[in-house]
Amino acid sequence: MSIIKFPKDMKWGTATASYQIEGAAFEDGRGLSIWDTFSHTPGKVKNGDNGDVACDSYHRYEEDIELIKDLGINIYRFSVSWPRIYPNGTGKINQKGIEFYHKFIDKLLENGIEPMCTLYHWDLPQALQDKGGWANRETIEAFVNYAETMFKEFNGKIKYWITLNEPWCVSFLSNYIGTHAPGNQDLQLATDISHHLLIAHGKTVSKFRELNIEGEIGYAPNTTWLEPFSDKQEDIDACHREIGHYVEWFMDPVFKGEYPQFMLDWFRKKGVRLHIQDGDLESINQPIDFLGINYYTGYIARYKENSGLFDFEYIKMGYERTEIDWPVYPEGFYKVLTYINNRYGNIPIYITENGACYNDEPINGKIKDKKRIKYLKQHLVALSRAIESGVNIKGYLLWSLMDNFEWAEGYSKRFGIVHVDYDTLKRTKKDSFYWYKKLVGNNWFEF
Ligand code: BGC
Repeated sequence: MSIIKFPKDMKWGTATASYQIEGAAFEDGRGLSIWDTFSHTPGKVKNGDNGDVACDSYHRYEEDIELIKDLGINIYRFSVSWPRIYPNGTGKINQKGIEFYHKFIDKLLENGIEPMCTLYHWDLPQALQDKGGWANRETIEAFVNYAETMFKEFNGKIKYWITLNEPWCVSFLSNYIGTHAPGNQDLQLATDISHHLLIAHGKTVSKFRELNIEGEIGYAPNTTWLEPFSDKQEDIDACHREIGHYVEWFMDPVFKGEYPQFMLDWFRKKGVRLHIQDGDLESINQPIDFLGINYYTGYIARYKENSGLFDFEYIKMGYERTEIDWPVYPEGFYKVLTYINNRYGNIPIYITENGACYNDEPINGKIKDKKRIKYLKQHLVALSRAIESGVNIKGYLLWSLMDNFEWAEGYSKRFGIVHVDYDTLKRTKKDSFYWYKKLVGNNWFEF
């Protein structure tokens, strides 16, 4: 048994997102988002589930904040539903939406919990999608305008701002693989969208600086790690392409003001070219205050000709898998963090998401989610190693506070440390909740 201890000023939190927990999809003037449309389209989401009610946090936020308070965390990451603020994406503001977030944020602050606000966690107003969505550069301006409204309204209340959650998912997963809203399958389109998202991010950061908003701003790309099966160059290169699709593609433009050449070359081979206009890279390349990192899984992989977009295959190495079938690969967490630190310098990092899907149900009122605790311990050991190696980790936000609408998987996959009964909406703390509470209180845990 050993003790894993964290730096004194380490922040501990949990994370959620608006469409996954709020519900109240048609209330108080909220407009429709692409996830309303997608989830109501037969065949898109498992069991035909949708976020109409979700965890009903829009009505139960006080109860949820009680849970957060009990957990003892000092930071809570949530996202704002853009169509609650601008039902049509731009134009008229919906005052009720603004009021809701004021009530909610005030309650967090009253309880000594620092809000970390994500401006875009995937619920694009449908009205903007109808005009092309992120493929249309007008959406960039609409986003910056929405962000400006939020900055002015909540200046001084929100200290940590995140522009985008997981731009890889918004572009490639949603517009090339097509399993997330809006569900397109077009590589050129997805690539254009990835570029537009980065411009939207950069312009929002500039707006934040121009308005002199208090606090810090960053974004939260998702990461993974692929360890080459052998030291053959072709295996190393194949793994590098897949890592590069998450890391270099979405971070080089932000930190270095350029796209990685090896990825541009690869995309060109696939018949895709990037439409960069004058000034785009300058817009993207804005200094940020912190980087949010989401990490869940990684793989061992090797080169395989004509296999998928990047010519690699995963190797089954006997790793445990969570119930969403993702390998438990904590070593990848350490590796990707040190890789990012080496490549981009010692930028402050918040782990804005990390967690595991296990579907344990209550037995006699108790939820013994041992495997989740094991997963968390393993990843926190990896995180502690990264800190020891000099990675500038400021905080860790566990995904997720509670079970919620898991996108294309609907309610069939549970990531929470609080169980939600979707018939009664009753919340029940899992064993992992109590385990995390102890860690947060001590700032260390036993491994
Ligand atoms: C997303 C979350 C999601 C989680 C688990 C991340 O990709 O940001 O919204 O629930 O992973 O799939």
